[in-house]
Amino acid sequence: MLVVHTIEELQNALRGKDGIALVPTMGNLHDGHLALMAEAKKHAPTVVASIFVNRLQFGPNEDFDTYPRTLQEDLEKLEKQGAVDIVFAPSEKDMYPEKQTFMVRPDPNLSEILEGFYRPGFFDGVATVVNKLFSIVRPNVAVFGKKDYQQLKIIQSMVKQFGMPLKIIPMELQRNPETGLALSSRNRYLNAEELKEATHLYRTLHGVKSSLEAGAIDITGLENSAVKRLEEAGWKPDYIVVARQKDLLTPTRDDLFNKEPLVILGAAKIGTTRLIDNVEVFGK
Ligand code: PAJ
Repeated sequence: MLVVHTIEELQNALRGKDGIALVPTMGNLHDGHLALMAEAKKHAPTVVASIFVNRLQFGPNEDFDTYPRTLQEDLEKLEKQGAVDIVFAPSEKDMYPEKQTFMVRPDPNLSEILEGFYRPGFFDGVATVVNKLFSIVRPNVAVFGKKDYQQLKIIQSMVKQFGMPLKIIPMELQRNPETGLALSSRNRYLNAEELKEATHLYRTLHGVKSSLEAGAIDITGLENSAVKRLEEAGWKPDYIVVARQKDLLTPTRDDLFNKEPLVILGAAKIGTTRLIDNVEVFGK
């Protein structure tokens, strides 16, 4: 496995290579990320994993400075797994040699709801860095996890609308096999008690899924009671929302009767840690 830190080194390493899969990450890798690497290997002979904590997608009160940077451990995990051929871990200066003033602005209908409502500018930062990584790496495919469901939708839409010459591969959300907790770099902020409580978010989303499968049609009622349940357990929920998978809009009555594929998305704070999770309903 080759580790490169500059765009030039990366492009030298990629010269003449055909069939490149890119897995963009911000590091602090866990088994969820590793599942993306394994998936990438199925789609292309050369897998590039990028590790870059992207300042553009962090708000002024968010955890950019304290975001866990664990490059050595990350490299050991990747080496042991063996799916990645090249790790691209650029410095801030390499990615942003000058202030990034050109930005990709996703459709506000997608980017200013849910996560985008609570994290203004977040998806501009994500779309901009992903666009930049695509131009630097020029991959044939790129793998994104459903853990960040809205991010995946926005990237798919960006690729489609700009006619970018690559295919986006969605990867299933990876959970702790025993507890169901969605794997996340931010789980490391949780203390032992919070870690136990953290699965409540998943169980709440799952409860909404069961109600929908049993024929419930009062979406607002379901969302509100899920929020209330979390509040009663000491959480500070930002949202629990039932949406259509295809466009993240609220399902109509017809959608419910026709079993349109839906997704229940949730974000909530436990202590000082903000977690997100989601569960699909009526297919993928
Ligand atoms: P990061 O949070 O490091 O996630 C990198 C990729 O791993 C994303 O596609 C994310 O959805 C996926 N991922 C994380 N946890 C997962 C899990 N439990 N199951 C499945 N996939 C999981 O997302 C980002 O970084 C950044 O926004 C990035 C796209 C790299 C742009 O900076």
